[in-house]
Amino acid sequence: MSRVNVAPSILSADFSVLEAEVAKMDKAGATFIHLDVMDGRFVPNKTFGPETVARIVPYCGKMLRDAHLMVYEPLAAAEGFAKAGAELITFHYEAYETEEERLHCIEGLRKLGVKVGISIKPATKVEVLDPYFPLVDLVLIMSVEPGKGGQAFMEGSLEKIAYCRKKIDALGRGVYLEVDGGINHETGRLVVEKGADVLVAGSYLYGHDDYAERLEGLKNL
Ligand code: DX5
Ligand code: ZN
Repeated sequence: MSRVNVAPSILSADFSVLEAEVAKMDKAGATFIHLDVMDGRFVPNKTFGPETVARIVPYCGKMLRDAHLMVYEPLAAAEGFAKAGAELITFHYEAYETEEERLHCIEGLRKLGVKVGISIKPATKVEVLDPYFPLVDLVLIMSVEPGKGGQAFMEGSLEKIAYCRKKIDALGRGVYLEVDGGINHETGRLVVEKGADVLVAGSYLYGHDDYAERLEGLKNL
């Protein structure tokens, strides 16, 4: 029995047949579907809005709709994504300046009825997450600079994952530990060894004929 969730990122999917691209990951056994939202400010690229989420909801099956907001003012953006069908919304620690603003964001996301995630970029120290472990459902460690798919995994994320695993185990409450960026069979094994239980994978899965086999391989690391 695998304990790892695989979250295909639609960023690497063919958007002209997005519904089919999503459905095939559900059929292949993905347990999350990862939705990368970029605003062109927090990161240089822009991706999609809530209408794209609404478009794929009927094709997601049992996959948890996991929105990763790489945007400033994530709470303001979240409402539209929650209404469109996102079930878990992750915001970036770096999107806000103060703890008060982050706590307000978490509270606001709860009011929208979604699960709440918090993420840090590679340059951010993992200890900044300390106050948030008891308040969230997911912690997302970025193992590449957010902004685009297909980048190389950064080994500096491994110690952060181990740190989060200890903190989460000490809580005595389930909090997902997700890793995003440069995940393939080898790097997937490294992060699972450190305690990750949700693996985001974009370019490793999409665009490969053997995506189902690759997905199965990641689930069983
Ligand atoms: C990067 C995104 C990732 C990205 C992962 O900003 O958050 O989810 O799509 O892509 P790969 O797996 O190709 O690194
Ligand atoms: Zn992502």
